[in-house]
Amino acid sequence: MYRINDNYQKLPGSYLFSTIAKKVSAFTAENPDKTVIRLGIGDVTQPLTGPVIDALHKAVDEMAAGETFHGYAPDLGYAFLREAIAENDFRMRGCGISADEIFVSDGAKCDSGNIQELFAVDSRIAVCDPVYPVYVDSNVMAGRTGSYDPASGRWSDVIYMPCTEGNGFVAELPSRRPDIIYLCFPNNPTGAAIKKEQLQKWVDYANKEGCVIIYDAAYEAYISEQDVPHSIYECEGAKACAIEIRSFSKNAGFTGLRLGYTVVPKELTSGGASLRDMWARRHGTKYNGAPYIVQRAGEACYTPEGKESIRSLVAYYMENARTIRDGLKEMGYTVYGGVNSPYIWLKTIDGMSSWEFFDYLLNQANVVGTPGSGFGPSGEGFFRLTAFGTHENSKAALERIAGI
Ligand code: MLT
Repeated sequence: MYRINDNYQKLPGSYLFSTIAKKVSAFTAENPDKTVIRLGIGDVTQPLTGPVIDALHKAVDEMAAGETFHGYAPDLGYAFLREAIAENDFRMRGCGISADEIFVSDGAKCDSGNIQELFAVDSRIAVCDPVYPVYVDSNVMAGRTGSYDPASGRWSDVIYMPCTEGNGFVAELPSRRPDIIYLCFPNNPTGAAIKKEQLQKWVDYANKEGCVIIYDAAYEAYISEQDVPHSIYECEGAKACAIEIRSFSKNAGFTGLRLGYTVVPKELTSGGASLRDMWARRHGTKYNGAPYIVQRAGEACYTPEGKESIRSLVAYYMENARTIRDGLKEMGYTVYGGVNSPYIWLKTIDGMSSWEFFDYLLNQANVVGTPGSGFGPSGEGFFRLTAFGTHENSKAALERIAGI
């Protein structure tokens, strides 16, 4: 009999957002008269912007004519998009990243799950706790995490870096040396941001200890404060130790269109091997690229009109963040995030666990959020609401919670 990858058997339960979706489906089946407001998964609700739609239409027309039709995309993505990214997301911020260090993909989730393939199976990973589940689960699948302890919710071979109220939800440097460090700022799920001098400490640590940082900057467009870096490459020495992952989902609303990219700088080497060349090899072998029309839509995000439309979109969601944050505070909740991030991280009330609070909000207010413990043991007693709803739903959710 063939054998399976036993590591999959070690994964506890289903993916967090699948579990939530199942619970909500069960609730709506039992309560067909109730309208549920979904502020759980960070999925956008506003339509694609005008410049993006125009670019899509134009690209579709190109695909309809023999002279302008496009087949397979180049391995790393189209140069027009990679150049626009290098210029706007990096050079304009003083980061010397070139187009051939940028790999276009169909999203940050896949890249953040796949990137671990570049590293030895016995590499030790360090993650923030709470953490976006993809980083841990993808390493479980690869057999890198040891055994799971259901009581503590922890894997034996993972270094957890607690993010708590005490440290402002920015982890301290690990006490044991990891090989791979996952960081996400602005943070999912806590909404915390990291200051440049704090991030520089991580870069210095990684360079000194010979670690690689996987830096997930999917939410960078939500940064509103001045001293918060948009890219890890704003820190000195980061090109020698960091990979950065970006998304078009949260800034430009591409969750249903799919587009992201990963930066693997040429300076990033281990034992003489170039990680950039390894990732290029992987792309060539396992991936045929994001669709031409979607890459044209991505390019449109960097035109002056495109940039303006993204600013409006982000402002729309940040108004929701303010509504939710201020409304909860007025009700007496302890609330974090929502300033440089579309996530609001609140403390549960009356000693409820995160899942008890999930049931409480779903049953009493018909509002869906995400239990903090689903992101890791240090998330217990917390709950995440997203600002990606509509204005109407965000306000209505607050009224419902106030009315419990
Ligand atoms: C989230 O809700 O944490 C995100 O939407 C998940 C994702 O981006 O994959």
